[in-house]
Amino acid sequence: MERIRVESVSYSYQNKYQTVEAVKEVTCSFESGKMYVITGESGSGKSTFLSLLAGLDCPKSGRIVVDGEDLSRIDRDAYRREKVAVIYQAFHLFPLLTALENVMYPLEIQGMQRREAKAHAAEYLREVGIAEEKAVKYPRMMSGGEQQRTAVARAMASGGRIVLADEPTGNLDTENEEKIVELLASLAHEKDFTVIMVTHNRQIADRADVRLVMKDGRMTETAMETSGQ
Ligand SMILES: Nc1ncnc2c1ncn2[C@@H]1O[C@H](COP(=O)(O)OP(=O)(O)OP(=O)(O)O)[C@@H](O)[C@H]1O
Ligand SMILES: [Mg+2]
Repeated sequence: MERIRVESVSYSYQNKYQTVEAVKEVTCSFESGKMYVITGESGSGKSTFLSLLAGLDCPKSGRIVVDGEDLSRIDRDAYRREKVAVIYQAFHLFPLLTALENVMYPLEIQGMQRREAKAHAAEYLREVGIAEEKAVKYPRMMSGGEQQRTAVARAMASGGRIVLADEPTGNLDTENEEKIVELLASLAHEKDFTVIMVTHNRQIADRADVRLVMKDGRMTETAMETSGQ
């Protein structure tokens, strides 16, 4: 099922000295149940594109439609809170909340009672391999891999089931990298999430259901070279 449709979207950064056209007339769509990977050279517009999907910036032209609604016409704060979860390279957990509380947060926003949110959050953390003893830790007391797995658990808890990940494994060793990609793939394939991930890593790109490449602001879909799955 189609969740996100991007129609001829362009975005440029403007400052006193220059205009940088970071995203140029990109048209594509994203379905639930699939993991998409976007690759491309540094500066090709990948992060900018994700920030448009995340509702952090608005296209200068074109439009983004999510679940049939034009992003520019809906409450974007609510969209960011309820529809999309974003995972960054540098772990963006709330520093003053424990792992458990970080994962409870989106659930409580969705209106879940604290007790119930706690039980669900603990279950999500278990699924990503963070046992109950670890769940009471603050992010600064956790390893990078643990923090990123917590971020995935928090994404699982987000009601909208759209996950945008910008080089989520950039700071991790191979073992943790593998685990995170596995988790994100299973979110798509087993829980019907739409996962869109930017990566420089070829092995990760090979795990995608659909591979997209950005070049100089433009997006192309590439045929899969190997039948990895
Ligand atoms: N805040 C900004 N102001 C002006 N130009 C910007 C800004 N952010 C990004 N750019 C420019 O927009 C273009 C796309 O940047 P973007 O960060 O989207 O690339 P990227 O593909 O994510 O690169 P990387 O792989 O290095 O993360 C680049 O030319 C960059 O210099
Ligand atoms: Mg980037």
